[in-house]
Amino acid sequence: MTHSPVAGSVTVRVPAKVNVQLGVGGRRPDGFHDLANVFFAVALGDQVTAAPAEEGVTLSCAGPDADQVPLDDSNLAARAARLLAAHHGVEPRVHLHIAKDIPVAGGMAGGSADGAAALVACDALWELKTPLPVLLELAAELGSDVPFALLGGVALGRGRGELLEPLPVSGAFHWVFAVADGGLSTPAVFAECDRLREAAGTGSADTDVPTPDADPALLAALATGDPAALAAALGNDLEAAALSLRPALADTLRAGTAAGALGALVSGSGPTCAFLAADAESAAAIATALAASGTCRTARATYGPVPGAEVLPE
Ligand code: C5P
Repeated sequence: MTHSPVAGSVTVRVPAKVNVQLGVGGRRPDGFHDLANVFFAVALGDQVTAAPAEEGVTLSCAGPDADQVPLDDSNLAARAARLLAAHHGVEPRVHLHIAKDIPVAGGMAGGSADGAAALVACDALWELKTPLPVLLELAAELGSDVPFALLGGVALGRGRGELLEPLPVSGAFHWVFAVADGGLSTPAVFAECDRLREAAGTGSADTDVPTPDADPALLAALATGDPAALAAALGNDLEAAALSLRPALADTLRAGTAAGALGALVSGSGPTCAFLAADAESAAAIATALAASGTCRTARATYGPVPGAEVLPE
């Protein structure tokens, strides 16, 4: 679908994330898992445009995976617009257009990013001037990964991922993302993680599994801007579950490592695989090799950290 900006509309750019550490605790009584989740925002992102509308919330989406994006009220961008309007007691009147570049159901929080972007875009369109702490609370209601998309940069997420502490980071890190065919469902990957823990005899409840903590070596690598040290400390407790549901991802991880990546891991709940490169040149070479390897649909070189959701100048 083509899209031309409407007068008075607001466009927000929002980043995808990779989890450089995803420590997963046991399942809590509410069904969520306590996390030690180090979010890292990358330059791959979506844009959400909020345009004035006569009535209600409507959605459109463009981009390579647009046909996989639900355009009903389940879309986090639509839910964000309604939640913000309800919070302020105003009528939700907006058309939201999503220019989608983040892989859908890829473990890069694309849907969450669109929710965060819609909050910021509608806040500006409706001139609500909602303070950031309130936007962060609304974001947490929408989903565990939505608050981070507002903040960007690098942050430690505790609780189910929504309690954020920004982390110091030096310089830029260069990444390659190998996008798989088809997505993985986040609840299904968490459930598989529980099943594997049960099968291993360790138990899967929060009383069985120690509360995860951020790895000091990983935090030091981020603070000093050392890609080799960060590569050595990368870790994702959901990786075994994602590999169990999608064994072919092991080939993708191997192909990127063989092409010179310093480190490789499944991004979040997958199936996107993330590769840390020594520099931009190496990232470009790894992306080319992965694209030719036949182990992924497409490979993208990018960098980070970048800021969270922000309004673009008109
Ligand atoms: O919060 P969000 O809607 O993104 O979570 C999607 C699903 O992922 C949850 O319903 C839950 O099954 C799983 N999840 C979890 N523990 C977390 C975050 C998500 O079990 N900390």
